[in-house]
Amino acid sequence: MKLLLRRLSDLPIEGKRVLVRVDYNVPLQQGRLLDDTRLRESLPTLRYLLQRRAKIILISHLGRPKGKPVAELRLDPVAQRLSELLHIKVHKLDDCVGPRVEAFVAQMRPGEVVLLENVRFYPEEEANDERFAQALAKLGDCYVNDAFGTSHRAHASTYGVARLLPSAAGLLLEQEVTTLQRVRENPARPLVAIVGGAKLADKIGVLRDFLDRADVFLLGGGIAFTLLKAEGASVGSSIVDESLLEEARLFLAAARARGRRVVLPQDVQIAQASPASLQWAVSGADQIPDGWQGWDIGPRTIQLFQEQIRSAKTIVWAGPLGRFEHPPFDRGTREVARAVAASEAFAVIGGGDTAAALRQSECAHAKNIFFSTGGGAALEFVGGRRLLPIEILRAS
Ligand code: 3PG
Repeated sequence: MKLLLRRLSDLPIEGKRVLVRVDYNVPLQQGRLLDDTRLRESLPTLRYLLQRRAKIILISHLGRPKGKPVAELRLDPVAQRLSELLHIKVHKLDDCVGPRVEAFVAQMRPGEVVLLENVRFYPEEEANDERFAQALAKLGDCYVNDAFGTSHRAHASTYGVARLLPSAAGLLLEQEVTTLQRVRENPARPLVAIVGGAKLADKIGVLRDFLDRADVFLLGGGIAFTLLKAEGASVGSSIVDESLLEEARLFLAAARARGRRVVLPQDVQIAQASPASLQWAVSGADQIPDGWQGWDIGPRTIQLFQEQIRSAKTIVWAGPLGRFEHPPFDRGTREVARAVAASEAFAVIGGGDTAAALRQSECAHAKNIFFSTGGGAALEFVGGRRLLPIEILRAS
């Protein structure tokens, strides 16, 4: 059923204190932002609110500080970059609730922006604690959720607050939901799911969700070695999650029982690290020698994937197919990305690593590819799960 959300235009915004939940969970290195895509994607909502002279109070998390302050996870570098992008000063506070924050907000003028401190410095955030949600809600007259990337987490700042204030979806969240609904509700077929990434534990839920949605599974990356081993292959010293071998077997059996086409790597690029150098070679995926690890899909597998992609009408891709940050092990991801860009399919790419890999493959501007700002959130949404922070914004 189509999901219609309350919109910014439904809220009385003019001159009001507007609490905006954004997802500024961005990669940082020594205080520098490595990627500001999520900040840029939030600009349309912020500009909309600024044009209406709102007082903007931004809430975000950064990383996983486990409920206590962590110096490297403060949001100061984010506020600085946002100031540059918005061309106005973005104030930054050292806390996100309490009397000092309330005093600051009370003296804000229309058109001012403040970024509160990392909301996950409080354990009450992830616990969706009612009193913590009330403390946040006190800061605003209304609430806007533009944090699509965090919409699979029903936390105080994504869900609790939305129950306490007049609330609506921001422009980014609305656009993500509208676009991804096409794939969730009525995808053109065949739907090809390309699933890679390092850890099967992070992807097994996605694989299960797609059992009844995908027609074809193309499986690469680190996760493939657990699946290959579950099929009896010798995967040498490749990384295998032994605890998931049974799950892997069950998934493969269930997919085949439903008539899904499952393409596992037939050949792989393998590597052997020695103190002096990195050697590499191509091997059959089921006969990797001991001491060698699979680091990318091989040329025959690339061809097999390309054949499936050529006839796809919808593609959902999560996780790189090899260690793309170490050429030549970027080849599989790059070649498959080119095939996706050249295909007739509408493709959704979920997750920062996959998007970064595809941007390196010059596919960033392909018209048929939608780069979601959500990794886990996009996959859970397209996979059919109900995401409470989105559900609570339903128009009816
Ligand atoms: C993300 O980057 O996927 C979101 O910000 C959610 O982060 P989390 O997985 O730490 O909850």
